[in-house]
Amino acid sequence: MRGAREVDTQKWHQRWQDNRIAFHLTEVNAHLQQFWPALGLAPGGRVLVPLCGKSLDMLWLAGEGHGVLGVEISPIAVRDFFGDNELEAQRGEHGAFEIWRQGGVELWLGDFFALAPDDVSDVTAVYDRASLIALPPTQRARYAEHMMRLAPLGASILLVTLEYDPVEMSGPPFPVTEPEVATLYGRVYDIQCLHRYDALAESAHFRSQGLTWLREKIYRLAPR
Ligand SMILES: C[S@@+](CC[C@H](N)C(=O)[O-])C[C@H]1O[C@@H](n2cnc3c(N)ncnc32)[C@H](O)[C@@H]1O
Repeated sequence: MRGAREVDTQKWHQRWQDNRIAFHLTEVNAHLQQFWPALGLAPGGRVLVPLCGKSLDMLWLAGEGHGVLGVEISPIAVRDFFGDNELEAQRGEHGAFEIWRQGGVELWLGDFFALAPDDVSDVTAVYDRASLIALPPTQRARYAEHMMRLAPLGASILLVTLEYDPVEMSGPPFPVTEPEVATLYGRVYDIQCLHRYDALAESAHFRSQGLTWLREKIYRLAPR
C-alpha cells in the first residue's frame, strides 16, 4: 500500500500534468519585492526556495544579485520554468536530484525531504511562498523540522501564508495560523508578522471555491 506522502506527491504530479496550477503567479509577487529588504541580508547570498514550482520570484531574486536554489518535485514545473523564460539549462546530477542550471539559478528536481544540510551550506536565506501551506497538517511539522535541520547556520526565512475558514474549503493550500507558525518555528526563530491583508478581493479563484474571507500574512523568521 502506498504511504500518504507518496499519494500527495502523485497528486502534485497530476496537477502539473492537468495544468491545475492556480497557485502560479504570472507576475513577481509584490510582497516579495516589498518585504525582502526586511530580512536585512548582505548582498550576494544564496536563497533556498523550497517547493518552488516555476515561480517567477526566483528570477526576481536572481535579479537582486542572489544565487537561487529552487527545489521542485515536478519535472514539468522545472522544464517549464526554463522553457517559459527562454532560458537554456545546463543539466547535471547530485545524489537523488537532477540539477537544471542557468547562471546563478539552479532548480533541483527531486524531493525536498531528500535535501541534506551539506547541499545548502552556503544558503543565507529562505523564501517560502505557498510551500509550507501546500502541505497537509501532518506533513507541516515534518517540513519545518527538516527546514530547521537544513538551515542550522542561521538563514532567515520570508514566509507567506494564507488563513481562511477550513470549513469553507479543503486544501491545498491549507490555512496556517499564526499560533501554528509559532509552534512550528518558535523554538529556533524570532517570528515577526510583517504584514497581513485581505486577499479575497483579488482572488477570483478562491471566491469561486466558496471562501468568504482570506487573509495573507507575511512573516520574517530570524534565527535567534
Ligand atoms: C502550491 S505550489 C507552490 C509553488 C511555488 N512556491 C509558487 O509560489 O508558485 C507547491 C509546489 O510544491 C511542489 N512539491 C510538493 N511536494 C514536494 C516535495 N516533497 N518536494 C519538492 N517539491 C514538492 C509541487 O509540485 C508544487 O509545484
